Amino acid sequence: MDFAAMMKELFADEDRAKDMARRLMHLAQNDPAACAKEKDSVLAFIRGPIEQHFRYEEEHLFPQLEQHGLGPEVDVAKKHHATLRQEAVNLENAQDTKGIAQAIYFAARLMLHHTNFEGDYIYPELSKEQWHALLASSLGSK
Ligand SMILES: [Fe+2]
Repeated sequence: MDFAAMMKELFADEDRAKDMARRLMHLAQNDPAACAKEKDSVLAFIRGPIEQHFRYEEEHLFPQLEQHGLGPEVDVAKKHHATLRQEAVNLENAQDTKGIAQAIYFAARLMLHHTNFEGDYIYPELSKEQWHALLASSLGSK
């Protein structure tokens, strides 16, 4: 089992989300019309790769993090997930340029905030051994 590669993949997801979030926030503020054209791709990103990542965390990582005493941090992370899912609905329902750009800005800001939160308060709390055990068990292997 190549744990280093798995960790790299996990953090690559986070980095991808952060980069996209920064770019979208900038676009929403500086060129709302161009930003509004990203509506479908942003929705597809949130409901595709991001949703998959959230489910992985919720089903496999969070229950184990709670066992490591990170219950309060996990609660915050779960709330972020729920809020981003709601932001996606708000974006889907937004119709005019201003509304779409604003919905994209809120969703992007939350994505950035959330990935920073997990990176600062959850991931560093685990030792390398804990990570390995956690990744191994989440894959159903030893
Ligand atoms: Fe998360």
